[in-house]
Amino acid sequence: VDKDGTRTFALTMQRGRSEILPGRPVETWGFNGPHLGPTIRAARGDKVRVTVANRLDEASTVHWHGMRLPARMDGGPHQTIAPGATWSPHWTIDQPAATSWYHPHPHGATARHVYRGLAGMFIIDDRTAPGLPAAYGVDDIPLILQDKNLAEDGSPSGDPLTGTFGILGDHMLVNGVHAPFLNVRTERVRFRVLNGSNARMYHLTFADGRTFHVVGNDAGLLPAPVPVDEVSLTPGERVEVVVTFTAGEQVLLRTRSGSDDIDEGDFDLLKIVAAPRLAASPGLPDRLAEPAPIVVPPGARVRRFRLNGHDAINGKEMDMSRIDEVVPAGATEIWEIENTVYAHNFHIHEVAFQVLDVDGEKPPAYASGHKDTVYVPPKSTVRVAVRFGRFTDPATPYMYHCHILRHEDSGMMGQFVIV
Ligand code: C2O
Ligand code: CU
Ligand code: CU
Repeated sequence: VDKDGTRTFALTMQRGRSEILPGRPVETWGFNGPHLGPTIRAARGDKVRVTVANRLDEASTVHWHGMRLPARMDGGPHQTIAPGATWSPHWTIDQPAATSWYHPHPHGATARHVYRGLAGMFIIDDRTAPGLPAAYGVDDIPLILQDKNLAEDGSPSGDPLTGTFGILGDHMLVNGVHAPFLNVRTERVRFRVLNGSNARMYHLTFADGRTFHVVGNDAGLLPAPVPVDEVSLTPGERVEVVVTFTAGEQVLLRTRSGSDDIDEGDFDLLKIVAAPRLAASPGLPDRLAEPAPIVVPPGARVRRFRLNGHDAINGKEMDMSRIDEVVPAGATEIWEIENTVYAHNFHIHEVAFQVLDVDGEKPPAYASGHKDTVYVPPKSTVRVAVRFGRFTDPATPYMYHCHILRHEDSGMMGQFVIV
């Protein structure tokens, strides 16, 4: 923390060696270490600055996915950091507590940079405790889910820009580790789950089918915990869940195959071992937060986006020099995303949105909170109510795109400015 109260964080993008499979060190990329990056934590009202040093031998960027900030600080494809250079964005955190994250966003190379291992969490803490488990690393645990294809020597292999979806790996990693386990010592644990995969969709369940509670979506807490026995998560999405354990038990977190093109295979993700005695946790609160519903005013602008194939939106490939949409500051709009083909999803920088409907049907209760990324199933139409911020900059665009990185890189991305 410096004189004017700014909290400064330092990230260095670097190559290194780590063991995805035990005993087989391979090249991976990370922030401040060989693989993934540190969790950054700050709270609403904090002034933050991140100095991002690029020690790779190619240009990259770092995007704050889920963060509401001026376009110049966003870390999209225009905020390039040359090899050897440092970029120091700064902003004031002014949004509800949430699990957001950061990852590279260089146009055409995001899939490769993320697949190599560049990603980390950025947690926006609560100033007022909603009564959820909040001891980081003890009963508040980040889970970054990623899948890789591993070569003989244990290194991530394959070209993330081939095929319809790029990489759909056959090895599941949690926080960079294959076949991990976690010892828990409290009755209840909050997991902040991030799908940091290039393309894979997860349907998360426990092997014993137990009920757990979803307490938050991408952009913050839900009004109340929602009981579920499964949650689905596409790339870029986050969910916060609270799970209750019994002393001495072992339980497996898994993902099952579905029929959504990007969810092939049943895999174990994480073995959880509960200690023989568990510290008591407070009960799950009845009420969590009061996220103001995003109300669409009468006559609100409706914008339509058509996803067809894998490299364009509304028939146009991403062009760094073309502004596709101009949005007035503070606007609330309906964005209607039509998918005429196989699985896609849709992420919008800077905003919070609420899913209105998927083919006319309301989303499940667990996905009804504020979000920034949404699944758009094959041959379906999703409508979201989007609230835009007030950082105007007619010259610097924010992005919207499919978060299947193979699609994003090949041009399924557009640019908007707020004026
Ligand atoms: Cu997670 Cu435009 O990105
Ligand atoms: Cu983003
Ligand atoms: Cu896509």
